[in-house]
Amino acid sequence: MLVRRLRVRDFRTYAAADVRLGPGLTVAHGRNGAGKTNLLEALYFGCTARSCRTSNEREVLRFGAEACRVEVSTRDDSGYEHELFVGFQPGQDKRIRVDGAPVERLLDAPGRPLVSVFLPERLELVKGPPALRRSHLDALVTGLWPTRAQTRRQYSAALGQRNALLGRLRNGGSRASVAAWDLELARHGIALRDDRARAVAMIADRFALVAGELGLEGEAVLRYKPRSTASTPEELAAELAERLDSDVDRGFTQHGPHRDELALQRDGRELRVYGSQGEQRLGLLALLLAEREALAEERGAPPLLLLDDVMSELDADRRGLLVARVTALGQCLVTTTDLGHVPGGDAPGVTRLAVAGGEVLQEVEAA
Ligand SMILES: Nc1ncnc2c1ncn2[C@@H]1O[C@H](COP(=O)(O)OP(=O)(O)O)[C@@H](O)[C@H]1O
Ligand SMILES: [Mg+2]
Repeated sequence: MLVRRLRVRDFRTYAAADVRLGPGLTVAHGRNGAGKTNLLEALYFGCTARSCRTSNEREVLRFGAEACRVEVSTRDDSGYEHELFVGFQPGQDKRIRVDGAPVERLLDAPGRPLVSVFLPERLELVKGPPALRRSHLDALVTGLWPTRAQTRRQYSAALGQRNALLGRLRNGGSRASVAAWDLELARHGIALRDDRARAVAMIADRFALVAGELGLEGEAVLRYKPRSTASTPEELAAELAERLDSDVDRGFTQHGPHRDELALQRDGRELRVYGSQGEQRLGLLALLLAEREALAEERGAPPLLLLDDVMSELDADRRGLLVARVTALGQCLVTTTDLGHVPGGDAPGVTRLAVAGGEVLQEVEAA
């Protein structure tokens, strides 16, 4: 799946923009505040119908504009062209269309590429609570094995039912049905844990390798830390049963994969707690690159990679390694203040976009 073209109306700094992406590396360069991240965000928005920067979507609307839209043209592996359309007007439902037909979301729409995004100002994934890493890991599972998306849904539904039941028990309801619910929950829980473990096993070695390559000092380890080590649903159900009284007191289920952690560590310590900003950045970058390679291997289709402003953080050797690693695999958009920071950025085959004053100039036509 290739993204060929991006068209934007009234998105952030852009009244209008129309750019083409090449099959490999695209470099968007320009001064601070020029609109590089805005462009990257627009591409993400057009591929996912969400912003990668904010949960308050009104912010993406160009100051003074009433509505915005982003259109992305793709070409799938069989050579068919697709058109993704996302229109947004505050107070109304988003309008999303694939090849002209309305859809509810882009997440599972055919014709849409997987997207992986690195933004230096958004280190929440490394720094924030485990819940963020759990959902990230579950998104990886879905990316790797689309049919496994249901594992997470089924677990969440069963968990919701058990928590509702706990509420009834608190008010004196009968405990007779708890065991059956617990076993149901445990079945989905074990399936979810196995999916997560399998996904982490696919990326852990690569994570360590890439982190080292990019200059994270010490031993980098990506570790899935499930709450429960039960090997069967029956064992997990027994663990749940042991905690029933305390769960009833608290009013929610305290044990199970909804409390798991995906730990990014350096020399045995969590980057989340002990990592410097720079180390956390490298950890995040290594995680995204490792995932992208696993996705390329498993699905035959690497996600479109969006890298915002990573080059300034790296020394020259590491910039070279990064560019080689990301472009070997597929499409990548890199933003930078200084074109000289992207080794090979002026090579033939690289698409260059000059960003200034809310406009994008296509310097090199996409191949
Ligand atoms: N909704 C918006 N409408 C118009 N301009 C915006 C909007 N949101 C942000 N901006 C402007 O975008 C500029 C920053 O663009 P950005 O893409 O982050 O720059 P950079 O090239 O440094 O990545 C700022 O000048 C900011 O005021
Ligand atoms: Mg920026």
